[in-house]
Parts: sequence; structure tokens; C-alpha cells
Amino acid sequence: MRNIKAYNKILSFALLTALLLIIYPTAFQKSTASIPLNTQNISDRAENILKKMTLEEKIGQIIQADISAVTPEEAKEYNLGSVLNGGNSAPGGKVTAPARNWIALADEFWHASTDKSDGGVGIPLLWGTDAVHGHNNLQNATIFPHNSGLGATKNPALIREIGEITAKEIRATGIDWTFAPTLAVARDDRWGRAYESYSENPALVSIYAEAMVEGLQGQYQEQNFLKDEHVIATAKHFFADGGTHQGIDRGDAQGDLKEIFNIHAAGYGPAISSQAQTVMASFSSINGEKMHGSKGFLTDLLRSEMGFEGFVVGDWNGHGEVPGCSPTDCLQALHAGLDMFMAPDSWKGLYKSLLAHAKSGAMDMKRLDEAVNRILEVKIRAGLLDSVPPSERTATNPALLGHKEHRATARQAVRESLVLLKNNNAMLPIAGNANILVTGSGAHSMQQQTGGWTLSWQGDSNNNDAFETGETIFEGIQSAAKKFGGNAFLSNDGSYTEKPDAAIVIFGEQPYAEYRGDRSDLVFEFKDGENLKLLKTLKANGIPTVSVFLTGRPLWVNSHINASDAFVVAWLPGTEAGGIADVLIGNEKAVPRYNFTGTLSFTWPNVGSGEPLNDADHPDTLFPYGFGLTYESSTRTAHLQEDSGVVELGDNFDGKLITRGDAVAPFALFLGDNSNPNTPVTSQLASSISGSVNVKGTDYAAQEDARTITWNGKGEGSFSVRVDRAVNLNMLGNPETLAINLLARINQQPIGSVYLSVGCGEGCSSEIDISPMIKNIESNTWQTWHFPISCFDLGKLKTDNIETAFSIRSTGPLSISVHAGEFISSNDTLTCPSTSAS
Ligand code: BGC
Ligand code: BGC
Repeated sequence: MRNIKAYNKILSFALLTALLLIIYPTAFQKSTASIPLNTQNISDRAENILKKMTLEEKIGQIIQADISAVTPEEAKEYNLGSVLNGGNSAPGGKVTAPARNWIALADEFWHASTDKSDGGVGIPLLWGTDAVHGHNNLQNATIFPHNSGLGATKNPALIREIGEITAKEIRATGIDWTFAPTLAVARDDRWGRAYESYSENPALVSIYAEAMVEGLQGQYQEQNFLKDEHVIATAKHFFADGGTHQGIDRGDAQGDLKEIFNIHAAGYGPAISSQAQTVMASFSSINGEKMHGSKGFLTDLLRSEMGFEGFVVGDWNGHGEVPGCSPTDCLQALHAGLDMFMAPDSWKGLYKSLLAHAKSGAMDMKRLDEAVNRILEVKIRAGLLDSVPPSERTATNPALLGHKEHRATARQAVRESLVLLKNNNAMLPIAGNANILVTGSGAHSMQQQTGGWTLSWQGDSNNNDAFETGETIFEGIQSAAKKFGGNAFLSNDGSYTEKPDAAIVIFGEQPYAEYRGDRSDLVFEFKDGENLKLLKTLKANGIPTVSVFLTGRPLWVNSHINASDAFVVAWLPGTEAGGIADVLIGNEKAVPRYNFTGTLSFTWPNVGSGEPLNDADHPDTLFPYGFGLTYESSTRTAHLQEDSGVVELGDNFDGKLITRGDAVAPFALFLGDNSNPNTPVTSQLASSISGSVNVKGTDYAAQEDARTITWNGKGEGSFSVRVDRAVNLNMLGNPETLAINLLARINQQPIGSVYLSVGCGEGCSSEIDISPMIKNIESNTWQTWHFPISCFDLGKLKTDNIETAFSIRSTGPLSISVHAGEFISSNDTLTCPSTSAS
């Protein structure tokens, strides 16, 4: 490994230094957005409209609703400035709705918003969509690799072209605006959105920011800037979304602000210089300060320091997470500098509260005018005010979706994003005339190769038929083999009748999006993993084997690399997976048709703990940033160590959750409140984001061998013990005989209600009201609290899949201390603290 490292280090550092010198912005320096965006015409025009607007029209203008929760009629009545289709929303609620339905709905909204029959100004609304890897909500769109894969291409010209194509396909369906590019610099790959990040390297993200924004919007000062086949872009999520502690989605970035800025805001300077018209505020916080409520970040930094002139849009009810706010009420966000609220389902309540604040005098009316003005200016600049209904625009043309030329570019992107990590014995390329076994969960799965944000938010319920464009990885290999006289066959379990010359095993992550993709470690799978078994079986049978790894991010796969002769990272390639065969399958003489050119845009780990690496010199780095073999490399990859460094509970789960006040690994403690449900407890003193609940060390028998958890009564808060890889309680005994035991103490009796819940994954949990029981416990004495599992709704609770061992939620003030906690099996008759299971 050493040699490869040294070689690549020189290469990547030469490149990096050059890039850094050219573009890396200095902290807090005004960006180079020197050309004033507002010609007098545009400002005057916006001012004139603003003067004519009623208060109600202004309030409506700063609100964006989701098409699943608003009708065109309502958009007209409330004069809404914008709609979006969230990841799961589509015309008629059908994710596979044809383009003509999208255009028809866009027309309806356009007509509704421009209707002036009530004497109003009739401003066309903007429709925004998450076209984050192509126009990914449309079933015949060209789906490009997700951003982490694009980072591997190191090809800004290609990124620009992808932006242009994406814009064309968005416009083809009558939509004006995309919530892209994501300019996150993911530094902790446990983050569920790491694949939305181009790279851990700020310099690469900043180069791509410019390319993508200009690709989507066109060049500033050119005739068709924002118009015709271009759309409005969004630089998101401002800022430090990729820098949260432990990579927790919507979490908290912690540390020196200047350092955080230098890394995580790197893409915004170039995006602003390229005239990105909108910036989306991040759900996350920096040192506890929620972005949606921060004047310091949204106004002082983004506007005054960085020179942003477009409008700031919120994230999905993100304003509701500002301490003191709710999705339907958050004046603070407007005052902080949020110009448009993304209030998908909460828009009506929000409209009412904002109107009330305006009427009561609580609202800074200048700020309202400023927000409306900025939105109007963007609309004017984008030509929206002079446009015709979507269906009548020349750029509207469903035939462009999945156009041959677009797909060719996507296929090129797939080829260029492939990173070769191992190629022992010149395993690759495989001769085109060989007999090739193709297997693995990702071999023939459009869903696995496209990942999250595809047709639906999570992208996890798309069978191959849901796609009208593209081909699977197997199909690509099959047609390459056919062309050179070979044969490729799909085998679901890796079995065969005639021994193949080579096997290609395609496996990796299953689709996810946002927080659902968060993990507490980077171990792809442990020793007993099914993919590893498959690789080992093929190896045992003497079949030369190539692994194609589908993943949004680097994961620990040392054992898988060892079990393969060649190992290729294909990221999440999208619909045009034929690009994989282009590189892996040579001609009949095994001469490559395309070389590998992709290199890592994230550091690859040698252990699975997931601690951030981001550095070639980090002792846990296996392959550094910039690493990637080619067909010319003669490197032989040595056997890698196979200790993941991560506790594997597996069959060893003994029920222990907390000892001496600390979680027993891999369990972890979390605090939650309305501002953030997921704040990890990583020190003796910790607080939830809005401060409703905090913990500190306290003494049981020794110094600080217990935790005191205190709810201050300002909003609900929770304390929980969770694990990322679910545990199977049934291993400990029949659930009917199990209980949660806590060695704990009441310091302050509750005012309000206290609930205890056990969770079994997304949307799966059972909760009981333990207030009566807690209120009966004597204060200030250590006791064992006993909560039988049978008191929960066992019909609901999947006891073989427990992720939240327990969570205590209090609606009012309360203080308890905990020294130990565990699941135990008991022969005693178990009585419930209360029967109110819910
Ligand atoms: C995501 C954004 C996205 C928005 C609209 C949010 O949950 O964080 O990236 O643009 O939803 O779908
Ligand atoms: C929407 C996404 C959004 C997410 C936020 C989903 O229901 O479809 O667009 O990002 O909620 O939680």
C-alpha cells in the first residue's frame, strides 16, 4: 500500500495545491460577485410591483407549499409565491406520472397564480423540484450518477454539461427551478447524505459549484441566462450540512467558526459569483445555532460578507426547528433573513400566523418587503413575468427526457466515475468473448444503481419496470459480451452449470435518503455478510472474480477486497449503467476499450469506525483522496487486515445498555427536542439543541459514574439509548419474560407527562405513559425501575429489530439520574407500570 500511497499523494497534492491556489476563497472575504446583478430595470420593475401588492399578497409570495398539500385554487386564493414537489410528491400522487401530467399541473398553477380577476398583481409562481442527479422524479429522465460519483471524475466540463442537460429535462416538463447543487463538503461519511456531496475536498466542491450552477442557469449576462433551456439553481444547504458532529443529518457542526467556514462554505463563493439565484438554508446548526433562525449566518455572513443577491429559501419545515418556532409559526426565521419558507404541508397555518404578526406590528415590515422584493427580482430575471404558460414554452418538450445524447453523457459520467481499487493478476479487463457469470443484488436492479432521490424520496420501492430509460449493469455487460462473441448470464445466487471464465459480483448499499442513511460506523457488513459469502464461494471454486461496489460513500470492505481479484467502486451510477461494461469488458483480445480515469474524491478507510479521515496521512487511511488504478498500473494489492475495529454485537448481545452512566458500545445516548431529535451525548455535559433537556455527570458509588438528565420544561425533550444495527431481543429470551431495568433515581418529580418507548426502526415503535409510576417513586433514592416489555404493544413492536432500546420523553420539568440499564430476562410475574400502551 505504501507505494501507492506515496505516488498518489504526490499526484493529488500537486493537483490540490494548484486548485487551492487558483480558487480557494479566504475566510469571510467578500466573494467575487462584483458584477451587480440588478440592472436598474429589474429593481424598478420589482419595486413597482411591490408597491401594488396587498399585505396578503406579500405574505403569500414568501410561502412555498408542496403540490401534495395545495391545489391550484388555493395557490390562487393565498397568492402563494411558489410550490415544490417533495421527493414523494408528483401529479396525482403518482411517482410514475407521465411528463404531460407534470406540464398540465404546471399550467394549472401558472394560470391560478397569474389570475388577476380579484384585482391582484397575479405574479406567476415558481415551481421547484429536487433534480439532484438529473430530473430524477420523472420516470423517463436521464439519471446521472449521484454527486459522490461525479466527484471521482474530476471533470468540471462534464459537470457543466450535466447541469445543462438536467436543466433541459426540467424545462421539458414545465418546471422552473431545481434544489441543486448540493455544495456539502461531507467530512464524516457516516452522514446519510454523503452521496449528495461531490467530495470531502473543499477545492473540488468549489470548482464543481461554478460548473454546475452555470450549467443549470447558463452564463450570467448571456441572453439565455436563467431562460429558455436553463433553470434557477439552488446552492444548498447553507452551510456546514456536511460538517455535523458524527455525520448526523440535521445535526450540529462544532468547532472554530473560521475553520468550519473555510471547509464547508467553500462552494458558496463560486456559486454566488456564478449568480446562483437561490440558497437553501440548512436544517443543521453550527455550535448550537440553528441556521434557519440565524441572522448572523443568513444575513450578516451570506448577504453582507459574501454578497449574495438572490433569495434564501428554507428547507422542508426547517423554520419549525428554530427554538421557539413551529412549522406554522416562525417570525424569527423571516427576521433572520429567510426570504421564502418551505412550508410543504404547514403553509396555511404559517400564512395565518405571519399575517397576524404583520397586523399586530410584531413583524418588521421592511424585512417582509425585502424578502418579497428579492423573490420578485429572481422571477423577473428568470423571465417568469414575461412568460407564457409552461405548455406553450419552446423549451417544454417531453421528448427531451432521456434523449439519446443526454444518455450518452450520463454513460460517459459513469465510465469516468469508476474507481479501480484493486486489479491483481490483470483480472480486468475481461475479454469480450469470455463466458461471464453476473451476480449480486445490484446486478439487475435499477433501484440499487440509482439510489435515493429517484422517483421517490428514498428511492426504495422502484422495480425495474418503473424506469423507462436506461439499462441495468447486467444488461450492459450482456450487450458488451454479445458484441465480442462472449456470453454473460445472470445468476441470482452465484450458481452455474458450466464453469464461467470470470464472475462479476455487483453489490453494495440499498437506497436511502437523508437521515435514513445515517450510520454509526462504516462497516459494510461483518464476516457473516451474504455478499462476502458469495465472493468467498466463487473464490473457493477457483473463479476469477471482480467486485463492483455500489455505494454512496466509502465503506469498510477490506474482507471483500481480499476476496476479490479486482475491486471497482461504481458509486450510485444512475440509469446509464452500460458505462460500467464499457470499462470492464475489453474486446475479444481483452484489450481495454476505455481506461479507468476515476479517482477517489473521499478518503477510503482501513477500519470501520467511521471516524473522519480526510487525510492521506491519517493512520486509518487505506486509499487516499485521489487514489485510483488504471490499466497501466502494475500495482499488486496485498492482503488487507480484516479487523473492522467495530464491536459486532451479533450473537454476543447480553442486554447491557448503560453501565456507569455511559452507553455500552455500540449503543449510544441521544438527546432530542423540537429543534433536533438527534443530538448525541458525547461528553459528560451535553444539551439538546434548544436546551430543553441536558445531561451531566453525577456520582452513584464513584465519581461521575451516573448521569443526571434534566428537563427544564421549556418544550418537550427526550433521552434515549440507541443502536444503529438493530438487535434481536428474542435472543435474550421470550419477549414476554423480558424487562428493561434501570438503576436510577428521581431528583425532581415530573410536572407534565413522562413516556417510555422502545423503537424498532423507521415508523416502528411502542410507547407507554409512565407518569403515574414515576410519580410514585420516592425521590432522592437509588432504585431499580422495572419496565416489562410485555407492557408495550407487542403486536407493533418488532422485537427482533430493536434500534431504540428505550427513550424517555417528558413534556414538562423532570430530573432523573441513571447509573445502569439493561434488558433482563426474569421468571417473576411482570406487572406493568401503567396499561396505557399506545
Ligand atoms: C431536503 C432538501 C430538499 C427538500 C425538498 C428536504 O428534506 O433536505 O434537500 O430540497 O427536502 O424536497
Ligand atoms: C419529502 C422530501 C423531503 C422529506 C423531508 C419527504 O416526505 O418527500 O422531499 O425532503 O420529506 O423530511
